[in-house]
Order: sequence, then structure tokens, then C-alpha cells
Amino acid sequence: MRIVLLGPPGAGKGTQADHIVDEYGIPHISTGDMLREAIKNETSVGLEAKNYIDKGELVPDDVIVRMVKERLGRPDCEKGFILDGFPRNLEQGRALDDALNELDVNLNSVVYVNVPEDVVIERLSGRRICRSCGVNYHVKYMPPKEEGVCDKCGGEVYQRPDDKPETIKNRLAVYRQQTADLISYYEDRGLLVEIPGDKTVEEVTREIDARLEAV
Ligand code: AP5
Repeated sequence: MRIVLLGPPGAGKGTQADHIVDEYGIPHISTGDMLREAIKNETSVGLEAKNYIDKGELVPDDVIVRMVKERLGRPDCEKGFILDGFPRNLEQGRALDDALNELDVNLNSVVYVNVPEDVVIERLSGRRICRSCGVNYHVKYMPPKEEGVCDKCGGEVYQRPDDKPETIKNRLAVYRQQTADLISYYEDRGLLVEIPGDKTVEEVTREIDARLEAV
């Protein structure tokens, strides 16, 4: 199964990707996670990406496309993959098509998790993440048992720097300007599956499962 997860920042793409990974046994390719890892390791990509991410801007296409192409060429992607956070504009969408043509494979589905902006703002401003194992929390909906401490590994639970109000506003503006075009790009090709994301995590998961079973 080869899936793209599309939707505004904070729609729940990462949350749902974790479930799809368990269900289909395919790798989760999150460009946001890859970039944050590169920043942590202070690689050249990480140093370049940090300036953009901190402002809520998109990292340049050539950097991202190179990174994703390299990842898609690895053996674990032969059985499929779930792309989360890529593509993010039409250029990246076309670059993904070229990369898949080279690999002689097609996308099965583009799952678009649609969530209104007020919900997104609430989700992102309340999101907290474990610095060690990456588990996702929300101060109101999914708080860790002990504040600031990960239930799973005991690591530090922190707020992503780009989850501050000003940066969230800019990320949403960038989404409206750049990523929204991709919806019609995939709709025109009959690949788009729209899921209302303003429901509980379990309800959204059930709906994605049902729609993917029909693909
Ligand atoms: P990235 O990390 O991809 O961020 P994003 O797309 O903005 O998405 P998020 O990770 O913020 O949200 P999500 O939809 O995964 O939601 P989540 O499941 O965490 O990218 C970060 C930056 O990297 C970009 O701004 C850009 O600079 C750069 N970048 C990345 N990819 C790029 C690319 N292709 N090109 C150029 N630049 C790129 O959920 C959010 C919160 O809500 C959590 O707290 C969660 O617990 C909670 N939640 C989830 N679902 C529900 C629910 N149903 N009900 C209640 N709470 C819920």
C-alpha cells in the first residue's frame, strides 16, 4: 500500500500514520520528523532547515525532494509506505510522480484529513512531544500521567518551537497558499479520500480504515 497523508498542520496526520503503520506494516516517512532528526544531529540539511521550520516556512523543494527520493529507494519501501508531510506543494507532487515512475510503482490513495482552523490551533498549541521516543501528547486530550514526563519512556515532554501561536499562524497561511492546491491535483486523478478529522482519534482511525479497505 502506497499512501500520502494530506491535511493542515495539526490535522492528526502523524497520529493516524502511527495506526496505519501498525495496520499495514509499512514504513512511516514523515519529512517533518526527518528534518527534526537532521536538526538534532546538526547535519548540513538540519542547519539549513532550522531557519525555515522555526519561522513556519517550507524548506526548499530541492532539499526535501532529494531527501524523500533517497528514502523511497530503500528496501523497506518495496512493500509500500505512508508519506506524511510530503508532498506539500505542486512542485513536490510532480517530483513524487517522477520518483514513483522511476520506481515503476503508483500511489494507491491520498488520504486528506480535513480539520477546521480553530480546531487545528487548539490541537497544535496543546501538543507536547517526548524528546526521547517521540510519543505525542496533548495537554487537554491526551496528557501524560505526570506533567513533563513521558508515560512510555520517562523522557522529557516538550513543546515544539514551531507550535508557538505566531508560528502556527504562519504555518496555516503557508498551508492555504501552497498545499491546498494539491487537493484538486489528486482529486482530478481520482486518488483523493477525504476524511473529516474533527472527531476523536479512534473515530478518524475507523473511517480511514474503512476507506482504505475499499481501495
Ligand atoms: P511537520 O512536522 O510535517 O508538521 P505539520 O505538517 O505542520 O504537521 P504536524 O506534525 O504539526 O501535525 P499532524 O497533522 O501530524 O498532527 P498530530 O498527529 O501531531 O512539518 C514541520 C515543518 O517542517 C514545516 O512547517 C516545514 O517547515 C518543514 N517541512 C516538513 N515537510 C516539508 C516539506 N515536504 N516541504 C517543505 N518543508 C517541510 O496531531 C496534533 C495534535 O493534536 C497532537 O497533540 C495530537 O495528540 C492531537 N490530536 C491528533 N488527532 C486528534 C483528534 N482526533 N482529536 C483530538 N486531538 C488530536
